[in-house]
Amino acid sequence: MTGIRITGWGIALPDKIVTNDDLAASLDTSDTWITERTGIRERRIGGTTSGLAIEAGQNALRCAGLTADQIDHVVLATTTPDSIVPGTAPTVQDALGIRGGAFDINAACSGFVYGLVTVAGLIAAGAGPILLIGSETLSKITDMDDRAIAIIVGDGAGAVVVEPVDGPGQLLSWNLNSDGSLRHLLYCEHGGTLYMDGKEVFRKAVRVVVESAERAMADAGLGPDDISLLVPHQANLRIIVAACQRLGIPEERTVVVIDRYGNTSSASIPLALHDAISNDRVHDGDNLLLTGFGGGMTWASAVLRWGP
Ligand code: COA
Repeated sequence: MTGIRITGWGIALPDKIVTNDDLAASLDTSDTWITERTGIRERRIGGTTSGLAIEAGQNALRCAGLTADQIDHVVLATTTPDSIVPGTAPTVQDALGIRGGAFDINAACSGFVYGLVTVAGLIAAGAGPILLIGSETLSKITDMDDRAIAIIVGDGAGAVVVEPVDGPGQLLSWNLNSDGSLRHLLYCEHGGTLYMDGKEVFRKAVRVVVESAERAMADAGLGPDDISLLVPHQANLRIIVAACQRLGIPEERTVVVIDRYGNTSSASIPLALHDAISNDRVHDGDNLLLTGFGGGMTWASAVLRWGP
């Protein structure tokens, strides 16, 4: 049996910080409204999806102590590819000098968890180390004059190096879910901008995140007290808090980066994971519960036991 282990991590963020007050200068909104309703204080805006992915990928490789020729494949989760054809992963692969396969995954904000499970499958089938990236430039598909959506989006990327290990490895359980009948709640047509039914997405998100996270814990044979850290998708602090309460996981054991980065879709979970590791909140033997939801609707959870 071949399992997976995350051995490196890295992020990339555009330099430009846009605060709530910056948005309120041109939109009918306020720092108070955005902070209270979403938990967001600022976000990064700029860059390209490939550019951010390349930088995050380089950082993850360095952290893992691997060079490009030791990586077999690149898997890139994104809803904002640089172009429709080709995918963005081959651009990243070329820039980093990696050989092997390279492809994009679009599962909206669940993309990183979908990617992690996909990578585990590739590794179980015999692949070597894989670079998994979530990278987004949501600002490119957002009407920044529409206060209903402009306030929540951010740009950024997070990457991990995933290596094979003998035995079950870190991934204890996972589930991937989708309900395409809900696609009207959150979508972007070709050439258009993001539409979101915020209230309905909110309602559904709390329900599906809790259901999926509980299933992942049960499949891993764990309860809420066994979860060292919840690493949720960062869409709205109130969604995170509501999910924590229903799951019975205290907020102190949850990673929150939405205040600084906003909603970065498939980049949000690796950004949160990186933040937790950087702040010494992740130790060998810890059980991490990753959970995400987004357009589709898609939702997905995974439990990782950190360490060798
Ligand atoms: N600034 C100020 N006021 C705003 C505003 C803004 N940016 N956006 C909406 N409002 C106003 C509305 O017009 C409304 O005013 P009214 O009561 O006079 O009609 C009021 O604030 C409440 O609006 P509502 O849409 O009910 O706000 P909300 O509490 O649902 O918050 C979201 C809106 C988008 C923050 C929230 O619905 C949300 O986060 N949804 C989930 C989104 C999500 O998770 N998306 C990503 C999925 S991956």
